[in-house]
Amino acid sequence: MTYEQAITTVEKHLQAIEYPTQAAPLYEPIAYLLALKGKKVRPALTLLACDLFHRQEEDSTPCQSAVDMALAWEIFHNFTLMHDDVMDKADMRRGQPTVHKKWDENTAILSGDAMLILAYQFVARAGEGIAGQARNDKSLQILLELFSTTATEICAGQQLDMAFESRRDVQEDEYLNMIRLKTAVLLGASLKSGAIIGGAAASDADLLYRFGENLGIAFQIQDDLLDVYGDAAVFGKKIGGDITANKKTWLLVNALNTADATLKKSLLLWLEYTGEESTKIGNVTNIYNRLGVREKALAAMEDYFQRALEALTAVNVPTERKAVLRQLAKNLMQRKN
Ligand code: IPE
Ligand code: IPE
Ligand code: MG
Ligand code: MG
Ligand code: MG
Repeated sequence: MTYEQAITTVEKHLQAIEYPTQAAPLYEPIAYLLALKGKKVRPALTLLACDLFHRQEEDSTPCQSAVDMALAWEIFHNFTLMHDDVMDKADMRRGQPTVHKKWDENTAILSGDAMLILAYQFVARAGEGIAGQARNDKSLQILLELFSTTATEICAGQQLDMAFESRRDVQEDEYLNMIRLKTAVLLGASLKSGAIIGGAAASDADLLYRFGENLGIAFQIQDDLLDVYGDAAVFGKKIGGDITANKKTWLLVNALNTADATLKKSLLLWLEYTGEESTKIGNVTNIYNRLGVREKALAAMEDYFQRALEALTAVNVPTERKAVLRQLAKNLMQRKN
């Protein structure tokens, strides 16, 4: 299975979801957000991980249980985005108005809640549907446990992300732990669930988790970079949103920890600034440029990408079968959105 085939499968099944006709205003924002062009990285990882172990040579249809699990992750991911945009006061997502802007905050909260429940329904289906040697009477329990643990970790990551906004002394290890929780575990768990459904040995499922976790850390450092240096039209989100919110991104944490006393004082003053947004964004970006944080962030990203590849290399499957995942990871490192 290729990445493109995985995405086509996910899109087809997402479009086929039938929402109850009563309480339409609850479901409209869900259908709206899911229909916007996201990269579908997490569900693709689930399908590709399953495919690594469970190959139906004559029949190219992906295993239904993996499709259900893939949908659960994508719906869950979109739920986190719906609430994250409220918390981050973000107006744009995937080039379109965010749900709380198009409707209102209460709508985003409640439709988000409904999405989380919908995601659980797909996990339940995935657990029921596991076939062949991967199936045992604990299948559903294992998937539910992985899903719930991951979802709770993401909440913890989001809590740290918010708490860090008002701190100025965040260290790199604290930052790395925060992004591991808010972003990386989701990529790890998406892969691991696919591996479990595909009947992988526990050691291989864990290696794929580590591949996803390290890839996810690189992915979030890159998201921090794109927030400052991306092209809004392609990135689909407002540039400088993290600077406006005093988010402790890789860039800001590094700048605060490496600037000399004079530059640090200036940076701290800009963090306090509440005037014109573009003035603050421009001045903080200038400080980043003077410190060369962009280049240092790229090096950090590369480091985590290499750690990810090491874990993938260790998975006990012939190298050529892992080429799709390796290429997907490589492409993600070049992404502009
Ligand atoms: C956005 O995730 C949230 C982060 C973890 C940075 P993606 O960049 O995967 O967003 P979509 O789903 O492709 O829009
Ligand atoms: C992503 O953090 C983490 C979650 C949404 C759980 P961000 O706040 O950086 O994501 P974007 O930039 O809004 O997509
Ligand atoms: Mg956020
Ligand atoms: Mg955000
Ligand atoms: Mg971001």
